[in-house]
Amino acid sequence: MPLSSFRQFEAALAHAADATEQTMDRLLPKGRVDETRVYEAMRYSSLGGGKRLRAFFVLAGATLFRVGQTPALRTASAIEFVHAYSLIHDDLPAMDDDDLRRGKPSCHKQFDEATAILAGDCLHALAFEILADPSTHADPFVRSELILDLARASGPSGMAGGQQMDLEAERQVFDLATVTRLQQMKTGALICAAVEAGAILGRVPPEGRTHLRGYAHDLGLAFQIADDLLDLTAPDQQLGKPAGHDMVEGVYTLPVLRTLQAGGVAAVELLALLGKPLSAAEQEKALSIVRSNGGIAAAVAVAHEWVARAEAACDLLPVSAATEVLRVAPGALLSSVR
Ligand code: IPE
Ligand code: IPE
Ligand code: MG
Ligand code: MG
Ligand code: MG
Repeated sequence: MPLSSFRQFEAALAHAADATEQTMDRLLPKGRVDETRVYEAMRYSSLGGGKRLRAFFVLAGATLFRVGQTPALRTASAIEFVHAYSLIHDDLPAMDDDDLRRGKPSCHKQFDEATAILAGDCLHALAFEILADPSTHADPFVRSELILDLARASGPSGMAGGQQMDLEAERQVFDLATVTRLQQMKTGALICAAVEAGAILGRVPPEGRTHLRGYAHDLGLAFQIADDLLDLTAPDQQLGKPAGHDMVEGVYTLPVLRTLQAGGVAAVELLALLGKPLSAAEQEKALSIVRSNGGIAAAVAVAHEWVARAEAACDLLPVSAATEVLRVAPGALLSSVR
């Protein structure tokens, strides 16, 4: 069933997740005996979990520009493999040090750190191998544009650069503009690549992709703020990853930053708690300071502004059922935040 037959975001997302999972399973090699462990780790961390949001955006963009299923699903899988690699490395002790991912032990917990690093490396390489393969698109110019876009989105001016800024954010308090740039790079860039990929596959020239990029930019920022808010407010079970971890790691996300910016006693008390490992009681206290001083509400308001902008950007996209699903997606993503 094509994505255009879905009107509801949730149903379209479930469809995209299902179809992409099957393609990813086929594309993941099984490997030979001596290096079996790294293949197992690649499969463990990329199959059987995740919302498959980025896949959904590739398929929605592809539907908008009448691209066939095979190129769209192969491209969606490549981007999900890069995303899976970024999560494996994000969870490593040297980064966020998270033991849980998608409701199960993170890759380095299930296997070991060295295998997790290599599984990430392999998924990263596999993604580009898929995009470079003529089965993804017959036209080599289209393939090289997909590769260029994904490389830029995942490298130092995209995801990996944003992750580096995230590490820096543990040592200094960034202002709002810098946090926005950080979030655009670490999360928004890959989401942009996903949204734009369908248009590249449909041979839409760069100047014809401006509105789509605007949509993706606004959506990416709303999405990372929602992720940060969920980290503060949702239980572990809902997240499938440990909640409250950003504060423990000293990552000052928007709600924390807004509370600090407001100044006064709350900012002083909060600053005294941050920047060192927090006990459960201290974490609870920090959260209550952020909440009672409007940090959560302020961040929710900013996320809603980005959602409204993304929705408005859809007025400039082709009139189609896929555009309508794209229009409701940002609001639906934010709705799980309370
Ligand atoms: C989590 O992304 C990491 C961020 C970039 C915020 P998702 O929330 O899309 O993770 P999965 O793929 O559904 O597990
Ligand atoms: C991760 O951001 C962004 C990536 C590039 C992987 P987070 O560190 O907030 O993601 P979660 O909360 O662990 O999923
Ligand atoms: Mg992180
Ligand atoms: Mg993390
Ligand atoms: Mg997070």
